[in-house]
Amino acid sequence: MNVAIIGSGGREHSISLKLSESKTVKNIYVIPGNPGTKNIAKNVQIKPENQKEIVKFCSEQKIDLVIIGPEKPLTDGLADLLRQSGFYVFGPSKEAARIEGEKSFAKNLMKKYSVPTAEFEIFTKENYENAVTYLHAVNYPIVIKANGIAAGKGVIIADTFEDAREALKECLINSSFGSAGDTVVIEEFMTGQEASIFAITDGEDFILLPAVQDHKRIHDGDKGKNTGGMGAYAPTPFVTKEIENFVAEKIIRPTLDAMKIEGKPFNGCLYCGLMLTPQGPKVVEYNCRFGDPETQVVLPLLDGDFFDLIYSAAKGKINKESVHYNDGSAITVVLASRGYPDSSESGVEIQGLEKFPIQAVHVIHAGTKEADGKIFTNGGRVLNIVSAINTNDLKLCKEKVYQVIPEIYFDGMQYRKDISDKALINL
Ligand code: AMP
Ligand code: GLY
Repeated sequence: MNVAIIGSGGREHSISLKLSESKTVKNIYVIPGNPGTKNIAKNVQIKPENQKEIVKFCSEQKIDLVIIGPEKPLTDGLADLLRQSGFYVFGPSKEAARIEGEKSFAKNLMKKYSVPTAEFEIFTKENYENAVTYLHAVNYPIVIKANGIAAGKGVIIADTFEDAREALKECLINSSFGSAGDTVVIEEFMTGQEASIFAITDGEDFILLPAVQDHKRIHDGDKGKNTGGMGAYAPTPFVTKEIENFVAEKIIRPTLDAMKIEGKPFNGCLYCGLMLTPQGPKVVEYNCRFGDPETQVVLPLLDGDFFDLIYSAAKGKINKESVHYNDGSAITVVLASRGYPDSSESGVEIQGLEKFPIQAVHVIHAGTKEADGKIFTNGGRVLNIVSAINTNDLKLCKEKVYQVIPEIYFDGMQYRKDISDKALINL
């Protein structure tokens, strides 16, 4: 089988690595890929927005399955064009990707179909004054979210009325998030542990992969600014069997049913971001794709044939027996550039990478580039160091990952030292 993967981050490197283990997969192409995917697949220099060129390439190379990694090509409708051209695609249509691309769509869907989530109201530019009035009546803290995709920056947690009004003004009046902020969701602040669960689905039936805990803030102890994710571990003990069953029956199943009823069946990976509140699990957000860096710790925990899982889902009848959890555990730590998440340095040489063949502790490339045989930084999140073992022992897993990080170096490198500590403290 010939597989094409769209994207260039750590998630896509991780997916390529997993697919390279499948006996049925002959060729893997990553469009455009990164220096890490180059070692296990063929990188193809086409930009994800060049949809027609992607279709042409897939025809020429007789691609059997296309996996779309990031949200942007999905919300831009790449899956639709590929399907219309006769390809099997793992990833939702443009209409179904609205579940991530438009928070107001996701919130209204959850309300209509009784999926547990934070209480909310939606306001647009035109009713700014009503939104301010509403802010007088709510409890604090309160959460204000830009409706569209805002590079992980569109969520503001306001402790006071003044902060909330300021955030509202930034979104609706000053257009700080562009058109993504023309509509806002104002929602209740929830407390509890956060967890992410991926449902792999053919639009009707699904399986859940091991639950993950991401670490979104830049500094240890969940301090500082929100990022795309500074590290993750799986499985998270906060998601018990009982919680997993609840998520399957009260969140994922009704959501998939709702999407079908609304004429937007969801095929691909439905990422469910959860808050485990004292009243039970509630949805913080949906994403329409695999998480990054969550994927880097979920895939090493799957035995069986991952290709078969997603190929069968893409074809419309998921083979739920194709993979199973291997009783292991995994941690990834993100090595980020100086200045991230506000800015990021690029072009800084990375040293020590040659010491990492693919084994229990391995390196996934996220934001790197190659020149003259050397590897340089190329973005905020640069590398993901992944430790995966075949026992469920997060303590050991953590020791292994942090032992090897000092072997790698680039000027300005920053990383969190406490990935998985929340679970270790509670064990
Ligand atoms: P999102 O981009 O929707 O995942 O939000 C980013 C982060 O903001 C989440 O991971 C949470 O930590 C936090 N957050 C979002 N919504 C809420 C909420 N209603 N209550 C508390 N924290 C939230
Ligand atoms: N790590 C969060 C995300 O992929 O959206």
